[in-house]
Amino acid sequence: MSSFLAGSSQHKQRGLSTRTFMLSLGALAVLGALAAGLRGTLGVFTDGSSGESSEAAGERLFKRLGCGTCHGAQPGARGPALTGLFGSQVTLQSGVTVQADEGYVRESIMNPGAKVLAGYDLIMPVYQGQIGEEGLRQLTAYIRSLHVSAAASATPEGGKNER
Ligand code: HEC
Repeated sequence: MSSFLAGSSQHKQRGLSTRTFMLSLGALAVLGALAAGLRGTLGVFTDGSSGESSEAAGERLFKRLGCGTCHGAQPGARGPALTGLFGSQVTLQSGVTVQADEGYVRESIMNPGAKVLAGYDLIMPVYQGQIGEEGLRQLTAYIRSLHVSAAASATPEGGKNER
């Protein structure tokens, strides 16, 4: 009888230490999650100016503002696909050919009527007042990245160095 009691109390102790072990594992997991969360939060602040994250932010903005409904390169899309646009020559409705540089892309977003692409109607909404400088910079970075990935898919490093 006494040996049975001793055995059961031993079991209890083992059970307890297992639970303590599980608890510390849980605490470790929580600490890890907190650290990861903190790193993520800090990353948003510190990476704000890097090209990589502004491209990602621009892509999100592009989707959120519905740019892709016209510029998604899907069949029957009402706007031109933007892949490969950056750095290319575009012909405007007026017959003039211009270089699609940063300024052109910015103007196309803020004031689409200023330079209308040949073959297209002026149906793009005016985003002036809806997109701030930060958003414009992110959208431009995203559109530029469409060019980089399309033109430098074979040599991604070369494309990166160009910038
Ligand atoms: C309702 C459809 C529509 C929406 C939505 C739209 N666009 Fe456009 N976009 C067009 C059309 C059509 C053109 C070509 C005519 C012109 O130049 O205005 C164009 C032209 C452009 C150009 C110049 C393209 C070139 O090849 O010269 C850029 C850059 C552009 N849009 C970016 C955007 C961005 C960024 C958004 C979202 C903030 C957006 N567009 C939303 C229809 C749209």
